[in-house]
Amino acid sequence: MRIIHRAGWAALGALLSAGCAMAAPPSYTAAQAGAGASLYTQQCAMCHGANLEGGAGPALAGSAFTSQGQTLGAVFNILSTQMPATQPGGLTHTQYEDLMAYILQKNGYPPGGAPLAYDQARSSTASLTPPGT
Ligand code: HEC
Repeated sequence: MRIIHRAGWAALGALLSAGCAMAAPPSYTAAQAGAGASLYTQQCAMCHGANLEGGAGPALAGSAFTSQGQTLGAVFNILSTQMPATQPGGLTHTQYEDLMAYILQKNGYPPGGAPLAYDQARSSTASLTPPGT
């Protein structure tokens, strides 16, 4: 009886995570976000703020950023073709993946097991609404 009960909860959990996976942005790893953090400090913080709070460039974290209803793909396309503004499109695919992972982390998305991939991020229609809202 107890085993059946557990199986029921497991199935419900699987269903719920499948439902969330549809709306959630693609996964990224903690290693990507870590690499993105140091790159961000070197290349982006002077315009977007040490804490992504904004400056010469717009905020990249918090409700000012996520309330615009942008998709991950739209943000990633700006990031990967126009940033850093001093050198548009000048970084490697890996560096853009790492930076996007860091931005997701700073907006409250938890890291997962699968890395964020360049092509997947470009075509993502996932909304950047923070988790739990
Ligand atoms: C010289 C200043 C400058 C630097 C350096 C810079 N940015 Fe930007 N960034 C801007 C400005 C200004 C905008 C707004 C551009 C626009 O709206 O056309 C922007 C826009 C963006 C956007 C789109 C935000 C949105 O809400 O649509 C992202 C994402 C972004 N930058 C990320 C980065 C990252 C990551 C780096 C470091 C690799 C970086 N930027 C470096 C000035 C800068």
